[in-house]
Amino acid sequence: MFRRWRGRQSAQPGGGTALRFGQSELRSIADRQYLAEVPYELPKDPEEVNRLDFQHYMLRYMLRGNFAAPIGSPLSILDVGCGTGRWGMEMAFIFPNANIVGVDMVNQASIREENLPNYTFVQGNLLEGLPFANNTFEYVHQRLLVLGIPVDKWPNAIRELKRVVVPRGWVELAEASYGIGAPAIERLFYWMGALGKLRNIDVGAVASLDKLMRHNGLRNVHSHKLYIPVGEHGGRLGRWCATDVLAIFKGIRGPIIGAQIASERDFDATLTAFQNELLTQRSVIPFYIAYGQKPG
Ligand SMILES: C[S@@+](CC[C@H](N)C(=O)[O-])C[C@H]1O[C@@H](n2cnc3c(N)ncnc32)[C@H](O)[C@@H]1O
Repeated sequence: MFRRWRGRQSAQPGGGTALRFGQSELRSIADRQYLAEVPYELPKDPEEVNRLDFQHYMLRYMLRGNFAAPIGSPLSILDVGCGTGRWGMEMAFIFPNANIVGVDMVNQASIREENLPNYTFVQGNLLEGLPFANNTFEYVHQRLLVLGIPVDKWPNAIRELKRVVVPRGWVELAEASYGIGAPAIERLFYWMGALGKLRNIDVGAVASLDKLMRHNGLRNVHSHKLYIPVGEHGGRLGRWCATDVLAIFKGIRGPIIGAQIASERDFDATLTAFQNELLTQRSVIPFYIAYGQKPG
């Protein structure tokens, strides 16, 4: 699945290597690469590119589509924290008359965006303000950024999305929360929560996305809560989600052990217990979608 990885590696004084992607520096922890200068917890490397693409297809299958807001046929769409750009590139096919922009800290495009005349990547950091003028896009979408947004920054982040959407345009957010149901999955998510606390990130905050949207000036806010099954009890979707969750925890294993939140032994034993749980237990991941409109 992975096609392109465009980092530049350089030797560092005192040993080790660092990668630069445009303005972003990556640091290595236990063979994985992470963004050095932002709170975002997940890796930035080819393995993560594959996981994000896989996760995109899983979500599209589960949601039977790529968006929930009643957007009609917008002519301009922004995807904030676009990752590999899969979502935006599919929107470029669905809406050939629209200009689609994906914004992220680094470009991890997994297909050549040059082949899509109506899709563009722009480098930007949501926490520092999006690099777009007020009222630029008819629809603004942001999916799975909770591991990059400290709790106290959520109101500003939503105001930033609202700033760049046109009056009466839609802002849509989609986020997942802590997995629940069986001991090992809950332990792993507890450790993810402990890692997040060090950066003031709380995955649980996504349960009130709709309130956040209302409090920050969006109107006609609608929200949905779904439960993604994890494991055999969920059939195909459950197996896909289990693969995704396993890859997420392999991705934050290094930072969790490095921060002494769990020992290597405990972490690996819990990951094995999680894989056994998948066969018999009925764990789920709450998934929230909320969308709202900028007042006219
Ligand atoms: C879990 S991935 C989700 C990617 C994509 N939205 C999807 O659903 O496939 C989160 C993305 O947000 C990006 N990100 C994290 N913090 C960010 C920030 N402050 N500004 C812009 N992008 C950010 C990361 O680089 C990563 O690509």
